[in-house]
Amino acid sequence: MSDLQTEAPLLPVLICPDPQLRKVARVVTEAHREEVAALVPAMFATMYKAPGIGLAAPQVGRLLRVVTIDVAPDGAAAPLALINPEIIGASAETVVQQEGCLSVPEQYADVTRPARVRVRYMDEQWVKREIEAEGLLAACVQHEIDHLNGVLFVDYLTALKRNILLRKLAKAQKELKGK
Ligand code: NI
Repeated sequence: MSDLQTEAPLLPVLICPDPQLRKVARVVTEAHREEVAALVPAMFATMYKAPGIGLAAPQVGRLLRVVTIDVAPDGAAAPLALINPEIIGASAETVVQQEGCLSVPEQYADVTRPARVRVRYMDEQWVKREIEAEGLLAACVQHEIDHLNGVLFVDYLTALKRNILLRKLAKAQKELKGK
């Protein structure tokens, strides 16, 4: 983690069912260059502090197609900032992995997604890149890109499982506010 990231301001993370989480984020253009330059370090700082392995700009109330990810194990750091990320290929093979979300705190569920994806994006230097993701990174990048389209991991669950999870979340949030 660079000094820039640790010194960046922390941003409040919106919690489900905040309607902002359901909006589609805008494509980042040259006009957003300064805004994104400030947003990315603040998103990394917020994500590491949580701690979380991924964060999408709509989760901090900014409807821009920006994602931060770091799936490196504890102690290591592999920060990945993705601007306008797009999935351009996905394996037919799927895999089930347990997911959580900073906007759905302390609730976890198994989600089925393609095992491998090819992602095109721009990095924080605005250089076009492509990566092939698998394992935890594949799930994480798909989860974060979903956020840019107003989709949450709970949307992949059956209505029954989703309702149970969201009720537990609402109860926990109510108790938190009561303290
Ligand atoms: Ni999430």
